[in-house]
Amino acid sequence: MAKEENNKGTSMLATLKQELSKEKQEEVVATEINPTFSQPKIQKPEPIDKEIELDPKRYIVSKTDPKGIIEYGNEYFVEISGYQEHELIGQPHNIIRHPDMPKIIFRLMWERISEGENIVAMVKNLSKSGRYYWVITDFDTKINKFTGEIESYYAYRKAAPKHAIKKIEPLYQKLLKIEKESGIEGARKYLVGYLETQNKTYDQFIEEITEVKGLAKFWFRAMKKLFGHK
Ligand SMILES: Cc1cc2nc3c(=O)[nH]c(=O)nc-3n(C[C@H](O)[C@H](O)[C@H](O)COP(=O)(O)O)c2cc1C
Repeated sequence: MAKEENNKGTSMLATLKQELSKEKQEEVVATEINPTFSQPKIQKPEPIDKEIELDPKRYIVSKTDPKGIIEYGNEYFVEISGYQEHELIGQPHNIIRHPDMPKIIFRLMWERISEGENIVAMVKNLSKSGRYYWVITDFDTKINKFTGEIESYYAYRKAAPKHAIKKIEPLYQKLLKIEKESGIEGARKYLVGYLETQNKTYDQFIEEITEVKGLAKFWFRAMKKLFGHK
């Protein structure tokens, strides 16, 4: 009997060892896919046409490293994303990228924030459930005082108003179509032309349609202060 127990123990240990080595192998594969962190790459959900209603009073904050790898997300970010905190940390921020978003918007965003500048953008995000939510975002770039190098990026978001979503959706659909037909630079040209006819920058256009003036601007500034910026 004792021998039988012992055999059972040995075989359990062997199974555990096998499991562990399987995990190790998976970790190696994941590291190869995503070399910055040893987080396994998460399978993206299939988008479904259902909106997540955001609380207009709450804010969504995340922080990334210079490559856009998530280092921190506040409670609301974790809740709305649908992922567990440990699933998010170490993942590229495009984990919540929605396929309805044109690439050119993220290109503009990176061009600005990597120069230490802000951009006020409207973004449709994808949650783990496949549902979507629209936000207005504001960014901050944290630069190391001594080296002058970028240490991290912060994004502050709040619910985008419904009337603004109605206005931006046709523009983003058009940009997506152009990207498919003639690439991201084609979409940039169209966007520049579109904004010229409005006599506005992208940010001014977003600020106008979302009414990010007065109170909302004050609110974004307060958020930044809370996180130790400007
Ligand atoms: C601080 C910060 C916040 C970001 N927030 C979002 C976000 O909410 N949604 C999103 O799709 N991309 C966000 N991005 C941009 C992603 O890193 C990525 O560029 C984008 O999702 C496009 O993905 P792709 O390059 O795989 O097409 C953020 C980047 C940074 C640095």
